[in-house]
Amino acid sequence: MDKLSILPSGPMEGRIPISGAKNSALKLMAASLLCEQPLVLTSMPNLADTRFMAKLLQSLGVVVEWPTGEALCRMDAANITSTIAPYDLVRKMRATFNVLGPLLARVGHATVSLPGGCAIGARPVDLHLKAFEAMGADIVIEEGYVKAAALRGLKGAHINFPFISVGATEHAMLAAVLADGETILENAACEPEIGDLAICLNACGAKITGYGTPTIRIQGVAKLTGARHDVIADRIEAGTFAIAAAATGGNVFLEGARAEDLGALIDALRKAGVTVEVEPKGLRIKRNGSGLVAVDVDTRPHPGFPTDLQAQFMALMCIAEGTSTIRENIFENRFMHAPELSRLGANITVRGNEAIVKGVSKLKGAPVMATDLRASVSLVIAALVAEGETTVNRIYHLDRGFERLEEKLGRCGAKITRSGDSA
Ligand code: UD1
Repeated sequence: MDKLSILPSGPMEGRIPISGAKNSALKLMAASLLCEQPLVLTSMPNLADTRFMAKLLQSLGVVVEWPTGEALCRMDAANITSTIAPYDLVRKMRATFNVLGPLLARVGHATVSLPGGCAIGARPVDLHLKAFEAMGADIVIEEGYVKAAALRGLKGAHINFPFISVGATEHAMLAAVLADGETILENAACEPEIGDLAICLNACGAKITGYGTPTIRIQGVAKLTGARHDVIADRIEAGTFAIAAAATGGNVFLEGARAEDLGALIDALRKAGVTVEVEPKGLRIKRNGSGLVAVDVDTRPHPGFPTDLQAQFMALMCIAEGTSTIRENIFENRFMHAPELSRLGANITVRGNEAIVKGVSKLKGAPVMATDLRASVSLVIAALVAEGETTVNRIYHLDRGFERLEEKLGRCGAKITRSGDSA
């Protein structure tokens, strides 16, 4: 199994191009199932997760043309040949569950395995299913599978989510575009990926307004064509590299990063003593010699501080002066990086959904274990500033969500080497 060896790297200097957003790409790929003509996505991130979604789509009859390493992916769902997403394909990656809504809307029925739990909490899909029921679908759960049918088509509905869910908002939108009549989603998530999905669906002929606000209106249409769409820049990748540059110091330009999607992180970094400059084509992160100071953060739905940057920010706070309180409000059990960071010498106490981080003057390299995608990259950030060598094991988590991580950081001076089966 692959692992990364990381040595203290000194201040990072250079330019890092930001890839298309994984979380957006996965839902855009699911959207291809709604289209009678090809959907072409550019700036596609080449990741284990997006490649896996391509496999699932192929098993449903979608013709996917996406040569290895290419950023252009063409999906033709003119002929859907299966409406079953089996356990083996859904269990490995939760976002594959999002094929259910498009299949239901386009074909009238689908059988998709329940995604089950995952390392960062129970993560149920009840809100997704309630939204489909509100649109008139019959849903049965049998032997771990969701069997959904709307043989006479879905109907527009007024759905008021009891709390904000990114996945349920996207999934309801994916189903409602082909429903008969208007669907109104209230208390909808406002994440930038939702806007990206709406823009792509509208380019295919959908009628969605209000995205980016808590009330989204979708006027159903009879069919969708295809389109060419550029996947939005990955705010989590950009935020991760911003935090890495803040940790090592130096001067790093994040090409393509969108300041408008990263407001809460930019505020927190500035409070911590990091210079963030918004330039026309990206963000510049600078810290020259000045120390870091502790800042408290609370994860919230967008535009609040993203849960997907919580682990990385905790790594930064480990070397800041003072005590920082980090509160996780989105997922239970999302502090698995805390004991691993402690192995590097961090001083972290976890109490329920709060982590109290007392800054230390130095971290020391050690072998550590990646537990989930964002947790793993927090260990890489801490390792860049730790004395001696750190090895991060089980990095398949990283490959699920970060494109060419060691190469991108390496170009700015980070000393990271991969070893193992695919090195
Ligand atoms: C998406 C992102 C993930 C990010 C999260 C929050 C993708 C592929 N993943 O996950 O990286 O961390 O948004 O920004 O885009 N919940 C329910 N019932 C439901 C749905 C959700 O109880 O039907 C709960 C979840 O367990 C969680 C909370 O709602 O506690 C928010 O989850 P949600 O916003 O749905 O996250 P995901 O879409 O799974």
